[in-house]
Amino acid sequence: MKTLQRTLTIVKPDAVRKNAVGDIIEQFEKNNFRILAMKMLEINKHQAEQFYAVHAGRPFYNSLTDFMSSGPIVALALEKEEAIADLRKLMGATNPANAEEGTIRKKWATNIEHNAIHGSDAEDTARFELSFFFAGYELAK
Ligand code: CDP
Ligand code: MG
Repeated sequence: MKTLQRTLTIVKPDAVRKNAVGDIIEQFEKNNFRILAMKMLEINKHQAEQFYAVHAGRPFYNSLTDFMSSGPIVALALEKEEAIADLRKLMGATNPANAEEGTIRKKWATNIEHNAIHGSDAEDTARFELSFFFAGYELAK
């Protein structure tokens, strides 16, 4: 049985700079994700470090958190049956060189770091990431 899930996605600073926000949101809607909440904002280095705490100590952590705090991002809460896996599929592989045709990263990512979009990878990370950006009252009923 398929379960209704919520997931957190971020249009990363590189994609915002490329004016890809509208195109990426259109992909969410065309693929039957319901938008529960959406905001454009900038996060600082400390906030980026908190968000990506699972990657602390990885060689790309410092550069990644610099990048994520380098300009505006758009955070969205999405809902769909199997939202977490379906969003990961729509995003494509982390490294755009391995991303399938038709995925958001294939179309918009520049490289493995500047890869256009974030998506939660599991139910527990989705819960943490949704609450990082949105309070319960901000989500559509
Ligand atoms: O975003 P995703 O879940 O596909 O990948 P991740 O392994 O959780 O890594 C988080 C983010 O770190 C990636 O989306 C990239 O922006 C960055 N990264 C990187 O710069 N270099 C790597 N070798 C791996 C990830
Ligand atoms: Mg990840």
